[in-house]
Amino acid sequence: MPALDQFFSPCPRGLEALLVAELEQLGAQATQELPGGVQWRGSLEACYQANLWSRVASRVLMRVGVASYRDETDLYKAALAIDWPALFTVERTIRVDVTAVRSPLESVDFAVLRIKDAVCDHFRQVCGERPSVDTRNPDVRISAFIDEREAVFYLDTSGEPLFKRGYRRARRDAPLKENLAAGLILLSGWNPAEEPFFDPMCGSGTLAMEAALIATRTAPGARRSFGFEALTGHDPQLWRRLRDRAAAGTSPHAPQLIVASDRDPACLEDLRASLATFGLEDAVRCTTGDVLTAQAPASHGVWLTNPPYGVRMGADEGLGDLFKALGGVLKRGFAGWRCLFITADMKLPRQLGLHESRRTPIFNGRLECRLFEFRMVAGSLRRRQADTGAAG
Ligand SMILES: C[S@@+](CC[C@H](N)C(=O)[O-])C[C@H]1O[C@@H](n2cnc3c(N)ncnc32)[C@H](O)[C@@H]1O
Repeated sequence: MPALDQFFSPCPRGLEALLVAELEQLGAQATQELPGGVQWRGSLEACYQANLWSRVASRVLMRVGVASYRDETDLYKAALAIDWPALFTVERTIRVDVTAVRSPLESVDFAVLRIKDAVCDHFRQVCGERPSVDTRNPDVRISAFIDEREAVFYLDTSGEPLFKRGYRRARRDAPLKENLAAGLILLSGWNPAEEPFFDPMCGSGTLAMEAALIATRTAPGARRSFGFEALTGHDPQLWRRLRDRAAAGTSPHAPQLIVASDRDPACLEDLRASLATFGLEDAVRCTTGDVLTAQAPASHGVWLTNPPYGVRMGADEGLGDLFKALGGVLKRGFAGWRCLFITADMKLPRQLGLHESRRTPIFNGRLECRLFEFRMVAGSLRRRQADTGAAG
């Protein structure tokens, strides 16, 4: 059995560098950025901290074995050789997941089955009993990543993915994943101590909720349980100490104004319910209104929004008009603001009639997107009107 100090944390593609910085702050060592995640080394404490505090990671996977393989029999033997009873007890229910990249195997499902058989056979040989499988709500999740010739086995110390913070109740149209939303905020360079934050098309409010968690220094994992709690090596005292320390450092108030708005009042109800699960009702001002009549809530700040988009929301009729008018709203009312949009619509700057100051590639699931930033400079509208003799 290798030392259990090697981890892999997947994340939304485009956020890998942010995740390296975040994990290093949380105690990770020897970090290595890979497409879609970060490989790192660390102590049990670093594993707990990453689960509790990482805003960007989707999971924290602990490496428990590695082997080269050519077929399912090799996979079975490699999984059989791992000392599973040292990692969790036979009463724990299990689930096995396999991610295959350029694997020669014909069926991923069969690979899952063979690995599950190997885990159960190992237990049966050692304890005379085998663990039960529960694919919906397992105590222990076993993951295998297989490529052309190598299989790496992991225990998932997160359990439910980390973007499930425990605050989302309803599912509205096209919500952003929580860790993607947090990553966008971090990418925007928002300074929560000095800059107000505004999402004028907030939907269920994921961006505002994540902004509130960041501004109040609240651990995103503070209200949920984790896979490591079911593992034999779990240290409940250490875990309690880290949780208590996290709780002691949070505040229910954000230092600057955070405003979320949508034209659909039901969205704000969802956001209020989300805020309440973390006791953060006072951290965000929730308003209902049309973005086209939005007023800047402060003289400067960060506007970050995920506007409706044709592919995700259905027909995109009318969106061109919305964006054209929105360009005017930004130019007229948001001088002094940095305005950012996450969208898969590469034509957005042209539709807004603005030049972006920054464009960052990012994936929303499989959808390739851009985070566009527009710096709204005071006087730009007047100059433009003087140049062209036209308004807007
Ligand atoms: C893609 S969703 C935002 C999803 C959100 N980021 C989340 O994670 O839940 C776009 C939102 O824009 C809102 N919207 C569309 N047109 C609007 C308008 N003219 N004024 C205000 N909100 C609008 C919709 O009601 C919808 O909730």
